[in-house]
Formats: sequence, structure tokens, C-alpha cells
Amino acid sequence: MNAKVHELLNQQINKEFYSAYLYLDFSNYFDDAGLDGFANWYKIQAQEERDHAMLFYQYLQN
Ligand SMILES: [Fe+2]
Repeated sequence: MNAKVHELLNQQINKEFYSAYLYLDFSNYFDDAGLDGFANWYKIQAQEERDHAMLFYQYLQN
């Protein structure tokens, strides 16, 4: 694989995980506020971002 493409894919994986953590933080905020629906929605978004990260991860492994 082209080294630049490899580097960019690694950067994207980091951005996906960063987004997952950010969404988890939002989820905690809404959980603290007693807004369970919002908390749950952000938790689902966090899982989606982890899924994106793992897709790129698997692509690199393959
Ligand atoms: Fe994503």
C-alpha cells in the first residue's frame, strides 16, 4: 500500500475514535441531566464511530 494512503487511513481511524469518545462525553452530559433519550442516542452514535474505525482497521489488516 502507498505509504501516504496508509498514513491517511491511520489518521482517519484516530478521528473515528476521537468522535466516539466525544459522543460518549455528550452521552454522559445528558445522562447527568436526566435526559436518558439523548444519552442513549449519543451512545449509539459512539458505537457507530467505533464501527467506522474498525472498518478502516480491518481494511488495513486485509
Ligand atoms: Fe465516522
